[in-house]
Amino acid sequence: MSPTGLLALIGNTPMVEITRIDTGLCRLFVKLECQNPGGSIKDRIGLSMISAAEDNGRLKPGGTIVEATAGNTGLGLALVAAAKGYRLILVVPDKMAREKIFHLRAMGAEVRLTRSDVGKGHPEYYQDMAERLARELPGALFINQFANPANPLAHETGTGPEILAQMDGDIDAMVCGVGSAGTITGLSHFFAKASPKTEMILADPVGSVLVDYITTGKFGEAGSWVVEGIGEDFIPPIADFSRVHKGYSISDADSCNTARDLLLKEGLLGGSSSGTLVAAALRYCREQTTPKRVCTFICDSGNKYLSKVYNDYWMIDQGFVVRETFGDLRDMITRRFDEGGTVTVGPDDKLAIAYARMKLYDVSQLPVMEGDRLVGLLDEWDLLKATQKAPRQFAEAVRTAMTQKIETVGLNTPLATLMDAFERGHVAIVVEGGRFYGLITRIDALNHLRRNVAL
Ligand SMILES: Cc1ncc(COP(=O)(O)O)c(C=O)c1O
Repeated sequence: MSPTGLLALIGNTPMVEITRIDTGLCRLFVKLECQNPGGSIKDRIGLSMISAAEDNGRLKPGGTIVEATAGNTGLGLALVAAAKGYRLILVVPDKMAREKIFHLRAMGAEVRLTRSDVGKGHPEYYQDMAERLARELPGALFINQFANPANPLAHETGTGPEILAQMDGDIDAMVCGVGSAGTITGLSHFFAKASPKTEMILADPVGSVLVDYITTGKFGEAGSWVVEGIGEDFIPPIADFSRVHKGYSISDADSCNTARDLLLKEGLLGGSSSGTLVAAALRYCREQTTPKRVCTFICDSGNKYLSKVYNDYWMIDQGFVVRETFGDLRDMITRRFDEGGTVTVGPDDKLAIAYARMKLYDVSQLPVMEGDRLVGLLDEWDLLKATQKAPRQFAEAVRTAMTQKIETVGLNTPLATLMDAFERGHVAIVVEGGRFYGLITRIDALNHLRRNVAL
């Protein structure tokens, strides 16, 4: 049966050409899968897998669907499950963006978080856990995108024909990421018949085993990566890589910076994996010595990653932005005052303002600044002491509650000395020559240490 209502809007996504980023001799087109109603390419398989389970009788009216998902498949399934009246239980690894989890729960899905630091075969690995849950719940169906033939079929019969038509029947290369391998497998099958000249190119995060597998047939132990939704530590059962002979390993830094470039230069707000795909597509395009027509995806919307990929401080914390280094404590301050990054408050601001700012920026203390001069520090404890007896005190000025006697450290203070302040629960306040540079918290110090070590 053809879908109706919102479900009829799944697929038939628009395509646009990249025009302001250097694509060498090639033309690069991106298909905007972020414009599906659930926000990603996975709406397609949400619909196809549920429809197939209805058709073959494995899913009965009012039934329960269980899936292991990093998020987008969950959103696609949630969209379709809600429209069709099914209960949906999703097992999600705990490294996933919080926004995705909020979104899934708000759509009515039951989310069970599980560990992201264990591999296949471990009972808490998200796929093993979903399979077990489905076995234990009477009448539940483990929809399992990794082994479900309706997953690649959605791309063979839907995405593929759309792409070929939008490329006017002329496409030299298709660049895909692999999560479940549904997209690359379905498109490989489609192009094998409809456009055999189309080369299938893999875009893979550094740490994933797939590039090694397609180029050598072997793979070692997987590493870890930040990009969500693509990259694997095993070969999904539905994968057919027989038409995939070339792949690019893309670092997290390259993926995230490419996603930001896409927004800055092309106005396209994609997720981190779209950065991986476009970075790989650009490498392919720039390597060509003859003009080619190339296509890839904006797989999901960057809206879900605003506090990560599109957050300057997150990029710095991850070490994805190369910052000028000084060889002193400035290298450890995430939000530097001289760059306008420190969240501050004035001595005459109300405590309610200080409280709102702490909440908004998720910080526990605020330097109190009179112009460029540091005149105090207000932390949660100061605020609590001032307001616990009479909440009306929130209307009082910051200067009535701030700590004025503050210990500061100079730019060349060693980390070992900061440890004393950290142990007492304080932050390090960096001042040199009367100039305030910023605060260093425990997590800033940890981020700094982590940035400087490759594991
Ligand atoms: C966020 C995201 N999810 C899923 C996919 C495709 O994965 P699958 O192999 O499961 O079809 C991509 C592909 O690029 C992606 O970027």
